[in-house]
Amino acid sequence: MAVRPLIYLPDPLLKRVSLPVDAVTDDIRALMDDMLDTMYAAPGIGLAAIQIGVAKRVVVMDLVKDEDKPHEPQYFVNPEIIAASEETADYEEGCLSIPEVFENVTRPKTVRIRYLDRDGELKEEDCEGLMATCIQHEIDHLNGVLFIDRISRLKRDRVVKKFTKAMKASREPV
Ligand code: NI
Repeated sequence: MAVRPLIYLPDPLLKRVSLPVDAVTDDIRALMDDMLDTMYAAPGIGLAAIQIGVAKRVVVMDLVKDEDKPHEPQYFVNPEIIAASEETADYEEGCLSIPEVFENVTRPKTVRIRYLDRDGELKEEDCEGLMATCIQHEIDHLNGVLFIDRISRLKRDRVVKKFTKAMKASREPV
């Protein structure tokens, strides 16, 4: 298990569509363990493999924010939304690949998902609340979509500009 480097906006990898996983092998489980370490170290509550530069449809989450409580890691391989409510909910989202930016995003309030778990077993689950928000955000990552793609163009342009400028500044010789 290891903490791996995260990639940040405007890294073009974040726009890439990740590929389905054929089978949940030990390699995939090792990837998920590294993702969890990386997520806990950040810290964050969800991470898609592309955020450490791996274009596979793998997501980890842990919605327990209280550090005194035991971890409750969740593993999703090839997750997909198979039903979504018409009713929507707003949540102020952030992303480990877009540090310190938080914006209100409107999404379906509840979703039903299908995925393979850590043991490769096919599962279906109804999600609501933070779980619904987080899994939709992470599945977006697998499709090359960021939460800033779901806010106004004006706000998005401002965020992209800021991160592009910061990246250029960090490259300049000192
Ligand atoms: Ni994210």
